[in-house]
Amino acid sequence: MNTSKDRMTIFKNAMANYPTGVSIVTTVDEDQAPVGLTVNSFASVSIDPLLVLWSIDRNVSTYEPFSKTDKFAVNILREDQDEIAYLFASKEDDRFAHCKWYESKNGLPIIQNAIATLQCKLYKQVQAGDHLTLIGEVTDISANDQPPLLYHGRKLGPFPSTFHQD
Ligand SMILES: Cc1cc2nc3c(=O)[nH]c(=O)nc-3n(C[C@H](O)[C@H](O)[C@H](O)COP(=O)(O)O)c2cc1C
Repeated sequence: MNTSKDRMTIFKNAMANYPTGVSIVTTVDEDQAPVGLTVNSFASVSIDPLLVLWSIDRNVSTYEPFSKTDKFAVNILREDQDEIAYLFASKEDDRFAHCKWYESKNGLPIIQNAIATLQCKLYKQVQAGDHLTLIGEVTDISANDQPPLLYHGRKLGPFPSTFHQD
């Protein structure tokens, strides 16, 4: 039988071997300043209504504004946007000073050149262990079919070319 420490290690390794896309989730704080972080916990939930979810660690610096906001934007990154993914996972305080972004009509920060942007109003918050899961209803969406940035084995990388072959 595994100890709980074993289970945690195996769990982390299994999750590291589960490939995902990479997004930057953004919102604004109480002073309307932009905030955002890199996430790979993003997933779709429902088609009718259009629902998505992602989870935020209670210990990250952006936890407070995201726990209070009623809206957020999910910016799904293109395969060449690894630098901005690292920027929004770094200790840099002013992440938005180092990237190209604009404010949407809904007042949400949008990352330029993302392959899809889903602007959401908060649908539900779920406290889940050491994370808070935010479920959003998609109110505005834009997307193109450029290849995504991937996360696997604790590394970021481009989409494998085999997927581009017909
Ligand atoms: C590829 C990748 C995926 C991540 N996914 C998540 C996530 O889903 N939820 C989360 O809270 N943090 C996630 N993080 C970590 C945060 O981006 C990072 O810890 C945070 O922005 C920096 O912490 P700080 O703001 O406390 O300095 C991820 C980091 C990387 C590099």
